[in-house]
Amino acid sequence: MRGIDRAECDVTALDATAVAFAGLDGLDLLVPAAGIAERHTAEETSDAEWDAVIAVNLTHVFRFCRDALPLLRRRRGCIVTIGSGWGMVAGPRAVSYAASKAAVVNLTRALAIDHGPEGIRVNCVCPGDTDTPMLHREAAQLGETIDASTRPLRRIGTPAEVAAAVAWLASDEASNVTGTTLVVDGGSLAGTA
Ligand SMILES: NC(=O)c1ccc[n+]([C@@H]2O[C@H](COP(=O)([O-])OP(=O)(O)OC[C@H]3O[C@@H](n4cnc5c(N)ncnc54)[C@H](O)[C@@H]3O)[C@@H](O)[C@H]2O)c1
Repeated sequence: MRGIDRAECDVTALDATAVAFAGLDGLDLLVPAAGIAERHTAEETSDAEWDAVIAVNLTHVFRFCRDALPLLRRRRGCIVTIGSGWGMVAGPRAVSYAASKAAVVNLTRALAIDHGPEGIRVNCVCPGDTDTPMLHREAAQLGETIDASTRPLRRIGTPAEVAAAVAWLASDEASNVTGTTLVVDGGSLAGTA
């Protein structure tokens, strides 16, 4: 397993996939997970902020998936993208983030359709609020505290719970699952269907 962090590779750089995939002769699993969140309305969102969010949250996912395909073909590997509950529904002051994550959900489906015949499965995990630095930065940006009291499970999730969903989708147990989204949000979206 190889994890690429920001210090090693800016995923928005044009040579990012060359750096990330250097020396690999095949790939079992690609999880393009880098993301940024800016909590602004449309009028509060500058062109630069929009471009930055789309570059990290969407364009990098597209480029990493595209450039991983030759490596994935060699191992009948799979892709698990990271969407968000806000790729399924929108939320307040999250224009660029919600747009980017909805696009990731449909990018996932489009990839699954094109590459299913090659045995490459492509699925998306959509986390809800999860206890990571991103969630705390968002709360600080909004001047709010994190409140899980209205959610069915009455708590925010953990990174391990998101990782477990990714691991299941990548496993043979999910061998007939492709083009889908697995929501890991403690039931937050349950009342929105
Ligand atoms: N935390 C949540 O509540 C939540 C909810 C839904 C979806 N997500 C998604 O989960 C994924 C992981 O986010 P997280 O919560 O761990 O956030 P985080 O901010 O804690 O981690 C994001 C990671 O992305 C990396 N990153 C950002 N821009 C980068 C760049 N240009 N190049 C390389 N790396 C870059 C950061 O260095 C960091 O390691 C993201 O796609 C995020 O949108 C998180």
